[in-house]
Amino acid sequence: MMTIQFNGTPIHLGSLESGPFNALLEEYSTRKKVIVVDENTHDCCLEYLLTAFPSLEDAEVMLLPAGEENKALEVCYQVWSAMLEYQINRNDLVINLGGGVVTDLGGFIASVYKRGIDFIHIPTSLMGMVDAAIGGKNGVDLNGLKNIIGTITQPKAIFVDSGFLETLPAEEIFNGYAEMLKHALILDAAYWNQLKVLNTEEELIQLTNIIRSIELKKQVVEADPTEKGKRKLLNFGHSLGHALESYFLSKQAIAHGHAVALGMIGESYVSYKRGVLAVDEYREIEQCIIRVFPMLEIPEEAIEELIELMRNDKKNERNTLNFVLLECIGKAQVNAEMTSSEVGEALLHLSLLAQHGN
Ligand SMILES: NC(=O)c1ccc[n+]([C@@H]2O[C@H](COP(=O)([O-])OP(=O)(O)OC[C@H]3O[C@@H](n4cnc5c(N)ncnc54)[C@H](O)[C@@H]3O)[C@@H](O)[C@H]2O)c1
Repeated sequence: MMTIQFNGTPIHLGSLESGPFNALLEEYSTRKKVIVVDENTHDCCLEYLLTAFPSLEDAEVMLLPAGEENKALEVCYQVWSAMLEYQINRNDLVINLGGGVVTDLGGFIASVYKRGIDFIHIPTSLMGMVDAAIGGKNGVDLNGLKNIIGTITQPKAIFVDSGFLETLPAEEIFNGYAEMLKHALILDAAYWNQLKVLNTEEELIQLTNIIRSIELKKQVVEADPTEKGKRKLLNFGHSLGHALESYFLSKQAIAHGHAVALGMIGESYVSYKRGVLAVDEYREIEQCIIRVFPMLEIPEEAIEELIELMRNDKKNERNTLNFVLLECIGKAQVNAEMTSSEVGEALLHLSLLAQHGN
C-alpha cells in the first residue's frame, strides 16, 4: 500500500483490504453510510465491497442509471430525497464506487447536501483512477453542456485498487489510456516512452503507470488549484476533443477518451504547423494514437460547426479559440490563440488520416 497526499486528501493505492480503508470504516463506525453506484458497478464491484467489509452491510445503496446522460440534476434530486428519507446527517459518509460519472455526481451530491458532508471516492474505471476522481472537481451537466454545475470539494480520501479494473470493458480501458498519454505528452517524456509501447489491456492497467499519472495530475493541480494558468495544460486534446464528442453525439457517439485521442493528434498537428513542435515528434504522436484509436472521417461541411462548438467551450474566454500547444513531447504551453483556418486545417488533416486507411 502506498499513499500520495493530494491537497490534504490521502490517495491510497493498492488493495482495499490492506489497511487504510478498514481504519476509515472504523472512524465512521457509528455513522450512517451511503454507497453510490451505477448499474454496472452495482453488478461488478458492490458485492466484493460488501463481502470484504461486512460493516458496510447496513449501508444505504443509491443505484444510479449508468452513462453520461445521467450526470444530471434530476438524478441528484432523487438521491438527495432518498438521503433525507434515510435521515442522513452532516457527520455521515458517502462512498462513491464507480467511474467518473459516479464520482462526479456523488461528489457533487455530498458536497452540497446539508452544506456538505464527508465523502470518499473508490474509482473503478481507469479514467476514474488516473483523472476523474483526482483533483476535487465534481459536478453535473446541464442542457447538453458538460460540468456546468459543480463544486471543487476534496474527498476525505481516495482508494485506488486496480483490482476493480478486471471487469472494465476494453473500450473503457482505452478511454483511460488516452488521458494517461495526455499526462505524458504535456509533462513527462520518459513516461511517454513507457506508455507508447504498451499494447495489451493488462499492460495498460499497471499500477505503476496509474501512480505516475496521479503524480503528474497532482503536480499540476497543486500548482494551480483554481485553473488560472498551469492547470489549463490538462485541457490538451480537449478543445478539439470536446467539440468532436459533441458533434458525433447525435450521429455515432464516440467515447470521451477516443475524442481526446483525436483531439491530441489535431492539437499536435497545429503545434507542428506553427513550427513549435518538431515534425518527427508530431509523427511519433500520430503513429502512437493511430495504432490504438480508430480515425474518423469528418465531413467538410462539419468544420464550421466544430469551430463554433470550440468557440462556445466554457473554457474558452471571449469567444476565442484557445489551445494548449506542444513544444515537444513532455512540454506544453497554455493559452495559445488559434485562427479558424489553423483549426480547420487540423480537422481536415484528421479526416485525411481516416480516408487513407490510417
Ligand atoms: N472531475 C474531474 O476532474 C474529471 C476528469 C475527467 C473526467 N471526468 C468525468 O468522468 C466521466 C467519465 O468517466 P468514466 O470514463 O469513468 O465514465 P463512466 O463513469 O461512465 O464509466 C464508464 C463505463 O464503465 C462502467 N464501469 C465503471 N467501472 C466499472 C468496472 N469496474 N467494471 C465494469 N464496468 C465499469 C460504467 O458503469 C460505465 O458504463 C465524464 O463524465 C467526465 O466528465 C471528470
